[in-house]
Amino acid sequence: MDSSSAAMDALLKHFERLQRPIDLVQTLHERQVKEVPARYILPSDQRPSRPLQVQQSVPVIDLVGLEDIDQRFKIVSQLAQASQEWGFFQITNHGIPLSLLESVKRVSQAFFDLSLEEKQKQCPVRPGTLMLEGYGRFFDVSDDMVLDWVDALVHYISPQWAKAVEHWPKTPSTYRETYEKYGEEVMRLMEKLVGLLSEGLGLDPNYIQTLIKESMLQLRINYYPPCPQPDLVNGLRPHSDGDLLTVLLDDGVDGLQVRKDEQWFTVASVPGALIINIGDLLQLISNGIYKSAEHRAVVNTIQNRMSIVMFLIPQRDVLIGAASELIDEAHPRLYRTIKAEEYGTVYMSQDFQGKCPVNALLIDQTKQVNV
Ligand code: OGA
Ligand code: NI
Repeated sequence: MDSSSAAMDALLKHFERLQRPIDLVQTLHERQVKEVPARYILPSDQRPSRPLQVQQSVPVIDLVGLEDIDQRFKIVSQLAQASQEWGFFQITNHGIPLSLLESVKRVSQAFFDLSLEEKQKQCPVRPGTLMLEGYGRFFDVSDDMVLDWVDALVHYISPQWAKAVEHWPKTPSTYRETYEKYGEEVMRLMEKLVGLLSEGLGLDPNYIQTLIKESMLQLRINYYPPCPQPDLVNGLRPHSDGDLLTVLLDDGVDGLQVRKDEQWFTVASVPGALIINIGDLLQLISNGIYKSAEHRAVVNTIQNRMSIVMFLIPQRDVLIGAASELIDEAHPRLYRTIKAEEYGTVYMSQDFQGKCPVNALLIDQTKQVNV
């Protein structure tokens, strides 16, 4: 079986499984359950630790003044340092109008405020271009898997051939135009960031841009209703993102946590900022210099939390491997080179858990890169 039919096979199996009736988390919340159902409860050694750590957090980097050479140099080194130490950073003065960010949050909330039937009618889960798309839950892949306290809406944003606008929400009526606009802005921002991140590695500013030509932008809106027993569950299980770069917009409610030096740190939401993280593919391209950090989401008893996440995924046949400029005797190649599409299959086969997918590509298994 070649890798694309293996991927399609896995997709259809997953789809079949999701046809089984199972409550969405929003429904459990509306039913005011006092205890979380057994399938959500984590083994005691995997439960999120409290209290949340906020003392140290991911760097907040101001992008203002990129035209000025000295300022640009400073920003590039801040971005590179954050990408090496945390694999995460927040950015302000990113160039996306704050009014657009507000609209994006508003139309997203309005969709989740629709009745369950309406959401399922407008966006049923279906096998899309390369993955399951629609409104529902996506991580229920086996009976022994503990479920996450999250519902989601997933669809492509670009390019044209992947986006299938007819499957995007119809309500609110401004949803589509808002996301078309946001998609363009995020793509522009991603291009700018990969240019700066290339420079931060000492590579040609266009190095990564060339790899992301015609890339896909995938949207995942995570919706975390309040939970009666937040200490027993994952909002979103620990994972690293299988893409190149991720842009996350939250609604001001804290819940995202990043793992660094064996500890979990809460990312304190900064108004108007966007949260950026290095994906697995950028860890591979940078030969482990930039880290795709493990992260998770935790939930709380009081507030809904929503995060709007854009994933940048290169075209299927793009080769992902360490830039040769970064390899010498002291810095041997750490990972096997693979096609972007093949990485998707490795990622899906690892149960969406932790940092296993990148490690599966290590040439020497003793050389794991830790954040
Ligand atoms: C994701 C993710 C974190 C959050 O969707 O990949 O990591 O805060 N989300 O919702
Ligand atoms: Ni993630």
